[in-house]
Amino acid sequence: MTEVDSVPSQRLAGKVALVTGGATGIGESIVRLFHRHGAKVCLVDVQDNLSLQVCESLGGDPNVSYFHCDVTIEDDVSRAVDFTVNKYGTLDIIVNNAGVSGSPCPDIRDADLSEFEKVFDINVKGVFLGMKHAARIMIPLKKGSIISLSSVSSALGGLGPHAYTGSKHAVLGLTKNVAAELGIHGIRVNCVSPYGVATNLALAHLHEEERTEDAWAGFRSFLGRNANLQGVELTVDDVANAVLFLASDESKYISGDNLMIDGGFTCVNHSLRVFR
Ligand SMILES: NC(=O)c1ccc[n+]([C@@H]2O[C@H](COP(=O)([O-])OP(=O)(O)OC[C@H]3O[C@@H](n4cnc5c(N)ncnc54)[C@H](O)[C@@H]3O)[C@@H](O)[C@H]2O)c1
Repeated sequence: MTEVDSVPSQRLAGKVALVTGGATGIGESIVRLFHRHGAKVCLVDVQDNLSLQVCESLGGDPNVSYFHCDVTIEDDVSRAVDFTVNKYGTLDIIVNNAGVSGSPCPDIRDADLSEFEKVFDINVKGVFLGMKHAARIMIPLKKGSIISLSSVSSALGGLGPHAYTGSKHAVLGLTKNVAAELGIHGIRVNCVSPYGVATNLALAHLHEEERTEDAWAGFRSFLGRNANLQGVELTVDDVANAVLFLASDESKYISGDNLMIDGGFTCVNHSLRVFR
C-alpha cells in the first residue's frame, strides 16, 4: 500500500491548529473543515459574537474554542498561542488568515497613510507575529505547518489598492524567508493565493445596507467574467481545502510555496484575445 492509498478520512486527526480571522469568510470555512478533519481548533478574531456563533454551531464541542485576539498586538498573539497550547497540549498548525482589503483609492495623491498603515499592520505585521509565536512553540518540537493567506495580488499588480497589493507581496516574502529559517527545524511555511471570493472583505468598501443581493450578484458575475477558468465559481470552501492540504501530512515535503487558487488567472493574459 502506498502513502496515497492510506490517506485517512480525518486528515488532521490529533493535530492542534490556531486560525486567525476565523469568525467569517475563508477563516470560518477553514475552522469548520479542520474541525471536521479531527483537529482541535482555536479560532481567534476581534469579532466576539460571530466567533462564538461559529463555536456554538459546531455543537459547543470543547475541541473548538474562541480567543479574542487582535493580530496587530503582539501580546494578544502571544497569549492566543499560549492559550491554544495550554488548552490542547501543543501547536501543529497556524493559519494566518486575518486580513483586510483597505478602501479603494484610485489616485495615489489622495492616499491616506493611516489607511496604508492599517492594512500593513493587519496583513503583514499580523502574519509575522503569527509566524513568530508559532515558531516559538514549533522549533523545540521540530515540526509544524505555518500557512498564510496571500492573494492573486501577490503575483500581479492592478488587482486591488496599493497597500493591499504591497501587503500580499510581503506575505509571500515573509513566507519564503521564514521557510528558509525554519526548514532546519522541520517546519513547513507556505502561503495560498486565491482569486476573488464573495466574502465581506470583497465588498468591505460598501456600507452594510449597500451589500444587497444585487451587489453580491454583480460582484460574482464580475469575478466570473474576468476569470480564466469558466463554468465554476471559487468558494471559501475551495480555499479551505487547499489550506487543509498544506496543513496535513499529505504536503509533508512542500515548503516555501505560494499555492495559487486562481484557476490559472495569474499565469495567463487574455488581453490579446488569442483564445477569446
Ligand atoms: N475574499 C477574497 O476575494 C480574497 C482573495 C484573496 C485573498 N483573500 C485573503 O483571505 C483572507 C480572509 O479574507 P476573507 O475574504 O475571508 O475576509 P473576511 O472579511 O470575510 O474575514 C476576515 C476576518 O479577519 C478578521 N480580522 C480583521 N482584522 C483583524 C485583526 N486585527 N485581528 C484579528 N482578526 C481580524 C475579521 O474580523 C474577519 O473575521 C484575507 O487575508 C484576505 O486578504 C481574500
